[in-house]
Amino acid sequence: MSVDVLLGLQWGDEGKGKIIDVLTPKYDIVARFQGGPNAGHTLMFDKKKIVLHTIPSGVFHQSKNIIGNGVVIDPIEFIKEVDDLINAGAKIFEKLLISKKANLILPTHKLLDKVIELSKGVNKIGSTLRGIGPAYSDKISRQAIRIGDLSNNEEFINKYNSLSKKHFELIDFYKKQYNLEIDDIDFTLMEKKWFEGIELIKKFRFIDSEIYINEKISNNKNIIAEGAQGTMLDIDFGTYPFVTSSNTTTAGVCTGLGIPPTQINDVIGIFKAYTTRVGAGPFPTELNDANGDKLREYGKEFGSTTGRSRRCGWLDLPILRYAIMINGVTKLVMMKADVLDNFEAIKICTHYEYDGKIISHPPYSLENNNVKPIYKVMKGWNKSIVNVNKYKELPYELINYIEFIEDQLDIRIEIISTGPKREEIIVR
Ligand code: GDP
Ligand code: IMO
Ligand code: MG
Repeated sequence: MSVDVLLGLQWGDEGKGKIIDVLTPKYDIVARFQGGPNAGHTLMFDKKKIVLHTIPSGVFHQSKNIIGNGVVIDPIEFIKEVDDLINAGAKIFEKLLISKKANLILPTHKLLDKVIELSKGVNKIGSTLRGIGPAYSDKISRQAIRIGDLSNNEEFINKYNSLSKKHFELIDFYKKQYNLEIDDIDFTLMEKKWFEGIELIKKFRFIDSEIYINEKISNNKNIIAEGAQGTMLDIDFGTYPFVTSSNTTTAGVCTGLGIPPTQINDVIGIFKAYTTRVGAGPFPTELNDANGDKLREYGKEFGSTTGRSRRCGWLDLPILRYAIMINGVTKLVMMKADVLDNFEAIKICTHYEYDGKIISHPPYSLENNNVKPIYKVMKGWNKSIVNVNKYKELPYELINYIEFIEDQLDIRIEIISTGPKREEIIVR
């Protein structure tokens, strides 16, 4: 019996998809507990590149994959994802189960996301505009439509019509109040695709996922919960308001799957050997210089969902310390070490200078560049590690880098990823 959790410790895109794919053979079930198609989790194997958005990253293995109650599903995005997975050979109809309590993203949620974002002007969040914020808002204000509502078509249509009507009133309000110009969209077509997506969703097995999962726990099955986004995008603990609208942290596993906290075993925290962020918001170690460009180029740092260029910077230990504390991390995974292959010197932010003091955790707010990162400069290894598959064969400068991080964070780095492919990995 064991429930492990794998989640991101930074601002998302740490490489969660790859590690879930690598670890899945050890598990009977992979379950997503929050987020929706704002996520983009990349898997690379057999010369294929697959990006998952709502569906867990274990679909290419024997395990069952669950979309939990904490997830928001957009039927339009879901069709595209299922098509891609079928083309890539995943036996998706056998492997995917959907919680009856998962919530739906409506076409009008996406329009609302757009007008709300535009109304913020220069303070916009840089949302993926997948309707995430408005969909979770409706969940919290107790008017959302859930997967289980699809069982009664008449009631479902009534709920859909009444909620869409409210959304249109709100959209009109925003348009008038903020004088917004919105590109023409063919809403009828969007709605048609959405209902096609609903028909596709109905072909999958709907479950009471909290009961299903707890029965599997009692039957000694191994389960891994797959996080989306990252700790610093958590609605409570992230860089609010520049965050997403769900709990991306370990607590989200309990509410997003119905797993009791006492059943959680390992919490595997995953981080890049440097830091990235896509969208707006504070980023203390951001590099707006040639080193930042180099990280972006070598790391191919362009968003898996929106294609946007990711902001890049040095590793930030105050952020990692905070994320480890909030999540109760027991094991660390370091990704994309190979991206640092060609640096003479690499910096690590160990602390911040804030308000005349040296601090080791982020303060209440990181806005307005109010912290000054304090860096330790480390010697780069300046050679390729892509074909190295034993820890001891790594360049000593990289071993120093890893051991310095472990020393600062007081947790062992169990896995080091040295390239995007499944097999480019060192397990200690
Ligand atoms: P996720 O959202 O956390 O699953 O991460 P993404 O898939 O959005 O972004 C991670 C990106 O890094 C993807 O393009 C991966 O293929 C790639 N990647 C994963 N691990 C490594 C690695 O160790 N080295 C390199 N160079 N790329 C990696
Ligand atoms: P994965 O799971 C990186 C960011 C957006 C924006 C903010 C709010 O692939 O790591 P939202 O669409 O939720 O309204 O956007 O959060 N964001 C992500 N950044 N990776 C993600 O997911 C993200 N999902 C949302 O860029 O700044
Ligand atoms: Mg991603």
